[in-house]
Amino acid sequence: MAGKELVFGIDLGTTYTSVGCAPIDGNGYEGPVKFHPDGVAVNTVVLLRKMPRNEMPCVWVGRRASERYRRFLSENPDDSGTFVEFAKRNTGVCEDEKLSRAVEHWSLQDRDYVAQEVHGVFLKALARQIEAQRDLGEIRRVVITHPQNFSEVSKKATRQAAELAGLDVLGTINEPDAAALSYKVEPGLHVIFDFGGGTLDVVVLKVDDKGNSASIASSGDPFMGGADFDGEMLKYFEELVRLSYPDFRCENEPAYNQRAWIDLARDTKEQLSERESCQVSVPVLTLPGVQQKPIIIRRDAFWSRPEVNGFLGKIREKTIQALDGAKVKPEQIGRVVLVGGSTYMPKVRDLLREIFVRKELDCGIDPIIAVACGAAAYARILASERSTARRAQLEMPDDRPTGHISKGLGILVFDRDRGCEVVKLLIRPNSKTPMTQEQTFRMRESGRVRLEIDVYETNPGWDRPDADRLDPRDCPFVGTIEFDAPRPLEAQHPLKVAISVDMGGTVSVILNDPELGAPKTARLRGPGVVDEIDQNLGERRSHIASLCYDAD
Ligand SMILES: Nc1ncnc2c1ncn2[C@@H]1O[C@H](COP(=O)(O)OP(=O)(O)OP(=O)(O)O)[C@@H](O)[C@H]1O
Ligand SMILES: [Mg+2]
Repeated sequence: MAGKELVFGIDLGTTYTSVGCAPIDGNGYEGPVKFHPDGVAVNTVVLLRKMPRNEMPCVWVGRRASERYRRFLSENPDDSGTFVEFAKRNTGVCEDEKLSRAVEHWSLQDRDYVAQEVHGVFLKALARQIEAQRDLGEIRRVVITHPQNFSEVSKKATRQAAELAGLDVLGTINEPDAAALSYKVEPGLHVIFDFGGGTLDVVVLKVDDKGNSASIASSGDPFMGGADFDGEMLKYFEELVRLSYPDFRCENEPAYNQRAWIDLARDTKEQLSERESCQVSVPVLTLPGVQQKPIIIRRDAFWSRPEVNGFLGKIREKTIQALDGAKVKPEQIGRVVLVGGSTYMPKVRDLLREIFVRKELDCGIDPIIAVACGAAAYARILASERSTARRAQLEMPDDRPTGHISKGLGILVFDRDRGCEVVKLLIRPNSKTPMTQEQTFRMRESGRVRLEIDVYETNPGWDRPDADRLDPRDCPFVGTIEFDAPRPLEAQHPLKVAISVDMGGTVSVILNDPELGAPKTARLRGPGVVDEIDQNLGERRSHIASLCYDAD
């Protein structure tokens, strides 16, 4: 492998992360990266703990992190370290005064880490593991994926995670678009059904005769995935134990045993994909004379629980919503591509067969690695674009894939007719990407030198073709860009403002006014913590690099 430069695709999942690699010139190893001892996917968990001999906190990720954490908990629950899971659910989540929501953070030794920093630590550890275990060279140039339904701020936070790990981010891409790239689906309409550990994404994809694919509509739930089934399984375990021991409470068990239950619940759920029932011995420490309680879990009984059945209802609703958004009927769909570990569940597959009235679903590529391999393929396209553009100043190649942005984007302007500020939509929801939309606005007052342009997006699922001016209170804030004009601008001075979205959904704003010189593209400043991290990226990256990664 030495001498061949590889680029990498990282599917940073809520519960599992997988990595794909591709050689830039098309020769050499291409495919998933296997980790020891975690296989093709590493559990997205991080343990940070100060160890006596090390100056800086030590880091463990994946299976090793869970094992160490259980051990530290059993040895000394007060000094077991900081264990973080499901950080993706907090990626880019901002303070919200209305909802009194604070940004979640995790502390260790007077230092706070927000979600993207935890992911930065995780990715740094992963890169080091790959470099140490595999002969793949330095992990440097990457594409990182994010769910279709992530807000612009969350997408930016995902990118920051990789930057904090010291990686060179070639681009970002939606998880379903990445999966479609790895499947190379034929012309027609297809559905990418991605159901992972923490999120659901249903995307309707159109592929033309030249093989170009574009997502034409999507729906999903960023807060529903396999982990929710694990939680229900845990409750079910407890209920079954209480049939024999009514006073039993899982919450009274020592913390390390509660962790053992969580792992057992997930294993049991996964086993139920293979069999109708399984016998489980749950470890119990708070019942006199009892160490284990054998219980039998039946698939049908688990799935008939109202909460679990409710998840199926939600999947149906989101799938139909995506089809409606694309204005297509289930019969018009060519392939239904399964992505994400939760698609192994037979009840989910049965439901999809029922909705799409078909016998076969597509699962030829392991649903756990399809996104990472597609991201690596995209990384190769971007890396060769970069080098080609540098060599010959050429345009992008024609086979560049296209994607779509599920939410609309607009800027805050004063609406004379209404006498109030509105969000003027420039990019409609479910638009094809890459795309740039420009419109001319006029200065309201004279004398301005500094221009601040506020960018907003539409809420998930909002799409009214007749509306292009929205109440800012109904739109999530994405960020601000600032421009300095060379001289004070007159009232009524025309300004051309464009919003541009690349294939991966990254947004930039362009101010194009010949009187002010060449078009200017300004950095989109995210709100709150995303902006704070951008301001201190160097310091935070150095801190992450200085942690102790080779503790064992
Ligand atoms: N055989 C199986 N049966 C049921 N569930 C499974 C099986 N194998 C894996 N899973 C579940 O799949 C989930 C992980 O899937 P995946 O790696 O696609 O998710 P992720 O990428 O971490 O999440 P997301 O894409 O939502 O951020 C876990 O909840 C895991 O328990
Ligand atoms: Mg995933």
